[in-house]
Amino acid sequence: MKFIIDTEENIAKKAAQRYVELLSRNPDAVLGFATGSTPLGLYAELARLCGEGKVSFRDVTSFNLDEYAGLDGSHDQSYRYFMNHNLFEHIDIDVSRTHVPSGLDIAAAEAYDKAIEEAGGIELQLLGIGNNGHIGFNEPGTPLDSITHLVDLTEMTRKANARFFTSLDEVPTQAVTMGIKTVMNARSIMLMALGKGKADIVKASFTGPVTTLVPASILQLHPSVEIYLDYDAASLL
Ligand code: F6R
Repeated sequence: MKFIIDTEENIAKKAAQRYVELLSRNPDAVLGFATGSTPLGLYAELARLCGEGKVSFRDVTSFNLDEYAGLDGSHDQSYRYFMNHNLFEHIDIDVSRTHVPSGLDIAAAEAYDKAIEEAGGIELQLLGIGNNGHIGFNEPGTPLDSITHLVDLTEMTRKANARFFTSLDEVPTQAVTMGIKTVMNARSIMLMALGKGKADIVKASFTGPVTTLVPASILQLHPSVEIYLDYDAASLL
């Protein structure tokens, strides 16, 4: 594991450079994207760089980590909507080659890993981290061999994400997420965490034991992981 620790602004810039380098070498790379507040600075930076012609996503295929069950892609809290509005509309990606698990056709989850494999496998998977160590929506206790599947969200996760909805009641109780195995199959992984609120779980995940009770700790077993942290998230390391 390699740690990159800097200010929030520089973390976004350095993470964006990772994409610039990767796509200059491998313009048709398969990328795994994440939602949530953490990657917003990175996505803004990618949009800026793409606008300036410094990076192109023209030949990229992408797969997102997860989607809320029950939300259609036009719902303003769906992760499809998030990706369209925060990244895809601002870069030159072909939206028909972007994939987000369906929140409505749950049975389609079974085919998601196969589609990733058929596309050539994910070159670089971006991850955030939940306060309980979840990656994607793989909550504590998710088996190592899990592939894309339907999950029950914990109360902790629903409460953490309620900030984006008008009330807690509106936060879906389930989601479709890539599994731990799906994530670990990516050739490289980039995890980002920002803020003091993530310091405890960052410490537990990357300096503590590898356990399914802290899903992000499993990343210690992956051969190519970069952890991008601001000073607050890294403060307990
Ligand atoms: C998002 C995802 C989640 C988030 C995590 C952190 O697609 O799968 O694991 O990365 O919940 O969310 P933020 O960035 O909002 O703190």
